[in-house]
Amino acid sequence: MPLPVELVEGLDRACAGIPQRQLAVAVDRLISRYRDPRPATEPILGSPTEVAAYAAYRMPATFGAVYSALEQFLELATDFRPETLLDVGGGTGAALWAAADLFPSLTAATVLDQVDEALRLGRRLAERSASAAVRSAGWRRVTFAESPFPGGADLVVVSYVLSELSQADQSALIARSSESAEVVTVIEPGTPDGHQRILAAREVLIDAGLTVVAPCPHQDPCPLADGADWCHFSARINRTSLHRRLKGGELSHEDEKFSYVIASRTAYERAAGRILRHPVERKGLVTMQVCTPEDGVVPTLVAKRQGRTYRRSRKVEWGDAWPPSDLVAD
Ligand SMILES: C[S@@+](CC[C@H](N)C(=O)[O-])C[C@H]1O[C@@H](n2cnc3c(N)ncnc32)[C@H](O)[C@@H]1O
Repeated sequence: MPLPVELVEGLDRACAGIPQRQLAVAVDRLISRYRDPRPATEPILGSPTEVAAYAAYRMPATFGAVYSALEQFLELATDFRPETLLDVGGGTGAALWAAADLFPSLTAATVLDQVDEALRLGRRLAERSASAAVRSAGWRRVTFAESPFPGGADLVVVSYVLSELSQADQSALIARSSESAEVVTVIEPGTPDGHQRILAAREVLIDAGLTVVAPCPHQDPCPLADGADWCHFSARINRTSLHRRLKGGELSHEDEKFSYVIASRTAYERAAGRILRHPVERKGLVTMQVCTPEDGVVPTLVAKRQGRTYRRSRKVEWGDAWPPSDLVAD
């Protein structure tokens, strides 16, 4: 999922006037702060330089994670055509850009955040978008615990926000975000603690009367809840030259690991099972770890003699449904 070219150019422009050294120092500070598991007692993003640094080094990755998660949902909810979007804790608007790319049906979007400077940069980036929904988005300053915010949108996204809040505030935010929402998407880093936050959010969404659609093939307790392993996925991100300059390294891509849950008022049919980790192919045998409704996470082997099933198994990837819907239908 390539980043929209207007966004790449906008990020270049946003960083152009800031000395490279200052940006690199801000990136290092943000990386170490986001690794700290403690909730934030004050906004993590402060100065214009920090906001520009965040946008340049994180927006491509959070855009990719949101895009990948929504893409998995869309495979199941094929008739979902949201018109309204609420990007909760949206910062500079990565989820807005990703949702607008996937859903041309969007006509109205609002981004909520506590940091004025992030909203300002987000608005500036959005002005040049090819999408009318991105260009016309509303950018509202909101501090969750203090200010009421407008509920109710066809699609609500809460991406990479929960770790900054206490557990009680995380639950309150998800409950609030799900009020009158049709579909709620929650995304966190693909780490053991990110997965635990997603599991807690999943409970709140179920209690709010929504149905879990993805990635889970059921809405029973998660078989990985004990923490021995964790459910996460991977989105490949092409690094822009600005990104390479800020983070160092020569590779033209990086893999963003994320955990997510998407729940809906409409009970869409779920995947029959979900592939966790890259399938491994060796000597005519494909081995996959599949989360199933009946047996938890089980190793699934597909041999060459299984013909069409084998050919399909060689094309699926980490995060896809297994078996895919065309095989289930047969
Ligand atoms: C890591 S950034 C993620 C931004 C964006 N959602 C993304 O995926 O790139 C977390 C955002 O949540 C916002 N945030 C955290 N706590 C908040 C609160 N209590 N009220 C409003 N916004 C908050 C921060 O200001 C920040 O912009």
